[in-house]
Amino acid sequence: GIDKIEIIQLPKILDERGNLSFLEEGNQLPFDIKRTYWIYDVPGGEIRGGHSYHRNKELIIALSGSFDVVINDGNEDKTFSLNRSYYGIYVPNGIWRHMENFSTNSVALIVSSTDYDETDYERDFDKFKLSKNNA
Ligand code: TYD
Repeated sequence: GIDKIEIIQLPKILDERGNLSFLEEGNQLPFDIKRTYWIYDVPGGEIRGGHSYHRNKELIIALSGSFDVVINDGNEDKTFSLNRSYYGIYVPNGIWRHMENFSTNSVALIVSSTDYDETDYERDFDKFKLSKNNA
């Protein structure tokens, strides 16, 4: 359920020359990293990433700017506003999510546990909801 969604704090090395954060497989992440991608140049008002995964797990970080990640477990919505580069939201498989309210110049970094595989996606929300409520 929605309680499986957690904010993962990343190390933050404060420095007068500028701050630094990082993540390592096996340390900050509850999965092995297979792929990363990023979403950028999102026009105002657009919505990205409306789907769930059968297997893939991910961490979503607002590397720059801000946006909202809206999570649904088949029953309820929960909105997480991301606006710092030193934490991310962990989204396991079997959870619907979309991203909205992208600020100008925002960048969403997504760290994923699987290679890109379209058959791993559920893009039909009604089907997702049905599968959850019949499980
Ligand atoms: P899509 O999943 O539709 O974007 P959103 O997250 O907003 O739902 O992905 C857009 C396109 O990019 C689609 O044709 C698949 C392709 N794509 C890859 O080839 N590799 C990837 O790792 C990702 C995430 C997408």
